[in-house]
Amino acid sequence: MSFKITIKSTNHNFIANNDEILLSASIDAGLNIPYGCRNGACGACKATVLFGQVDLGKFQSSALSEQEIKSGKILLCCATAHSDLTIDCREASAISGIAPRILPARVQKMDKISHDVMVIYLKLPSNERLQFVSGQYIEFLLKDGKRRAFSLANAPHNDEFLELHLRLVPGGQFTQYVFNEMQEKAILRIEGPYGSFYLREESDKPIIFVAGGTGFAPIKGIVEHMMHQRNQRNMKLYWGVKSLEDLYMKELPSKWSDMNENFDFVPVLSDPRESDQWTGRTGYVHHAVLEDYNDLSPYQVYCCGAPEMVHAAHESFMKLGLPEDEFFSDAFTYANPLPKNAQVSL
Ligand SMILES: Cc1cc2nc3c(=O)[nH]c(=O)nc-3n(C[C@H](O)[C@H](O)[C@H](O)COP(=O)(O)OP(=O)(O)OC[C@H]3O[C@@H](n4cnc5c(N)ncnc54)[C@H](O)[C@@H]3O)c2cc1C
Ligand code: FES
Repeated sequence: MSFKITIKSTNHNFIANNDEILLSASIDAGLNIPYGCRNGACGACKATVLFGQVDLGKFQSSALSEQEIKSGKILLCCATAHSDLTIDCREASAISGIAPRILPARVQKMDKISHDVMVIYLKLPSNERLQFVSGQYIEFLLKDGKRRAFSLANAPHNDEFLELHLRLVPGGQFTQYVFNEMQEKAILRIEGPYGSFYLREESDKPIIFVAGGTGFAPIKGIVEHMMHQRNQRNMKLYWGVKSLEDLYMKELPSKWSDMNENFDFVPVLSDPRESDQWTGRTGYVHHAVLEDYNDLSPYQVYCCGAPEMVHAAHESFMKLGLPEDEFFSDAFTYANPLPKNAQVSL
């Protein structure tokens, strides 16, 4: 059985079967509704049901609270329709027309750049290019049907290889394989591009980038795109990691800053070692932003990294006047979130 889903603000509509995830149906229909993890963890695909019945599906309570459910909110990456629906949600513009594709990719080069970050470069078949917008991500399709999301760290003008920055997750199925078994020339299957973490080019507002760990990857893609375009918007990157060894590519933003008057780089260490002899900023990366600004209303923020950091940054930046629709984020959620109260030894 299929239902008609109408987005009130744009009057766009799409058809979804009763067993079809609403976000997937909207992507198939070429609509550009913002989303991130596609697994009910980040909250980026939140929408309001104005009319009709849905099954909410499975999601994490941190992404959709009881109160939000009572007020009609749903996560489009989890919910299915039980009737025709009228919903309210945002629609994005830049990813228009880029449909995700499944492609084979050969691992061209692997570079273990720090104790827990591997940079890998993927090569597509010679007659293929992946059309994408800087900041989007791809998913690896694993043999058992699971998927793992990783952000593209290169910009589209430089697409001979797809560059990814993978942090080793202790006990993580895919990243353990990459670090311990995978060899160059391995063939993987990818699907993409996905995601709505990309530069809003129509704006000329100054930008604050906030990266946590490998959250630097999509921001690198966006900054390289902006520099390629000689974009004159002011940019300031705060990159937060634990200690100096985790700033796995620090020479690059330092170089951007040396070569471009409109780019500033602020590395922030949350737990520097004595041997780091660190004299720079310390603490949580979003706190460094809060220390430097008393009004965020004239800015756009692009924030990427651990979900806890992204949520904390979002909440505190709103209190400092950042308009809700000027905060863009990708939360690096785990593909298989822990059940509540589970014990993990890391
Ligand atoms: C849109 C998007 C883009 C992403 N881009 C990147 C990227 O560019 N680079 C990158 O490094 N990562 C990125 N991630 C995160 C990455 O997809 C996940 O870390 C992924 O789950 C790793 O796969 P894995 O198979 O190694 O680990 P999994 O097998 O998925 O996870 C390991 C298991 O261990 C548990 N676990 C381990 N450590 C922890 C912990 N500290 N807290 C909670 N649970 C834990 C988890 O529950 C999980 O079940 C992105 C995620 C999303 C959603
Ligand atoms: S919760 Fe739906 S995209 Fe993350």
